[in-house]
Amino acid sequence: MTSSRENNRIIVFDTTLRDGEQSPGASMNLEEKLRIAELLEEMGVDVIEAGFPIASEGDFEAVHEVAKIVKESVVCGLSRATKGDIERCFEAIKPAPRRRIHTFLSTSPLHMKYKLQMDPEDVLQKVIESVTFARSLTDDVEWSAEDGSRTEHDFLCRCVEGAINAGAATINIPDTVGYAVPGEFAGLIEMLFNRVPNIDKAIISVHCHNDLGLAVANSLAAVGAGARQVECTINGLGERAGNAAMEEIIMALRTRQDVMPFETSIKSEYITRASRLVSTITGFTVQPNKAIVGANAFAHESGIHQDGVLKHAGTYEIMTPESVGLHKSNLVLGKHSGRHAFREKIKELGYHLGDNAIEDAFKRFKDLADKKKEVFDEDIEALVDDEVVRSNNRIALKSLEIVCGTREPSAKMALVIDGEEKSCEAIGDGPVDAAFHAIRKLFPNEAKLQLYQVHAVTGGTDAQAEVTVRLEEDGKTVNGQGADTDTMVASVKAYVNALNKLLVKREKSAPEALSA
Ligand code: KIV
Ligand code: ZN
Repeated sequence: MTSSRENNRIIVFDTTLRDGEQSPGASMNLEEKLRIAELLEEMGVDVIEAGFPIASEGDFEAVHEVAKIVKESVVCGLSRATKGDIERCFEAIKPAPRRRIHTFLSTSPLHMKYKLQMDPEDVLQKVIESVTFARSLTDDVEWSAEDGSRTEHDFLCRCVEGAINAGAATINIPDTVGYAVPGEFAGLIEMLFNRVPNIDKAIISVHCHNDLGLAVANSLAAVGAGARQVECTINGLGERAGNAAMEEIIMALRTRQDVMPFETSIKSEYITRASRLVSTITGFTVQPNKAIVGANAFAHESGIHQDGVLKHAGTYEIMTPESVGLHKSNLVLGKHSGRHAFREKIKELGYHLGDNAIEDAFKRFKDLADKKKEVFDEDIEALVDDEVVRSNNRIALKSLEIVCGTREPSAKMALVIDGEEKSCEAIGDGPVDAAFHAIRKLFPNEAKLQLYQVHAVTGGTDAQAEVTVRLEEDGKTVNGQGADTDTMVASVKAYVNALNKLLVKREKSAPEALSA
């Protein structure tokens, strides 16, 4: 059998919906997870880890629904090493034409002693039993040695050999706490290839966390040593400092083919869209100087650089903005543009909307074009995303008047709640505070505001504001979004959107608690 190392194709395993969602505050609802899964599939991700089905009903449902819509990518669910977890995981992924159970167990001395309180021999036995059981349900099984980078080599070799013999086709070596450094991590992978006798029967995967800022470097070093699957997330979202960022891995491989001659199936032109979608949904803004997807990643500010780029882009640009799907801000349409041009633009931006949704978005575009002189691609994206966010809501903003400046800030607001219009006035420490008080008067709730964030979609004082509001109630967090040329309207829409999401969560956990 030829070694998997001889193949130069790297399998991209995205865990934005599982490890990414584990970041505190990054919770996503079902509809949002489905939108992300659709985009991941479209951009060519090989394996989508859609969640941890045993963790909650919501997680199970999300994996199950993703499994129903994804056709090309493998849909994967995570499970601990117990029968109940693995069965639940299999139930969740069952509808997918291509499905994988990913089961894991800690193997480092620290984790075995304190977390598992198990002897190494019992751990090894459990690895073999869990993989064997998972294989009785499906052919595609991945096994992970949690805290693999801090595991003793002899023991890691025995666990990997045992898992492969039990039928795992993919062996994942996580750097769970982001402790490894590139040379050492590459050495670990190399060591497995040299010492595990049946290693050629499996694909070696890596899963790196970014606690020391080395997740991408470690992943690439491991690829150099023979790993052929990388686990990553969009924008590097994930527990603590996050996971390896998919966009950085993809563009590093694409840009440095001379030293890393590997292929992936990712269409890199989707990177900007995916980054924007994940950041809008989670409210985790991307830092301006973030590699590949930061707002400044392709901006040339200094005169010397600008001059160089104008003479030859290659002087300061190692990859083109177009290769990550970043186009020059196009002045798209004006207020005289018709439906046909609008429909074409929506398609070009990668949205697949039905006729009714296009019609609604078109009306909102006309309103926007009346208010705003220039409408850019980013405006259209914000407008369509906002439209999607607001469908099927129980609470909606009807009208808003704000007084602010040197007078006492106040808000006069009308909301439609379950079809009934209610209005009130409220004061506050500022216009946002007054508006949020008004919402709480009309719809009393104890949810705590954890984040209020405003972002301008484009430049200029007439730019649309995109607002994120994060609310927390009984340990559950939701992120609401709103976009409008009026920052206060966008703020209220975002708060109301977050409340609508909380209501859905309440309905799921206690169907009788439907009202405020
Ligand atoms: O970081 C980690 O070890 C994990 C495993 C469950 C793969 O996320
Ligand atoms: Zn992880």
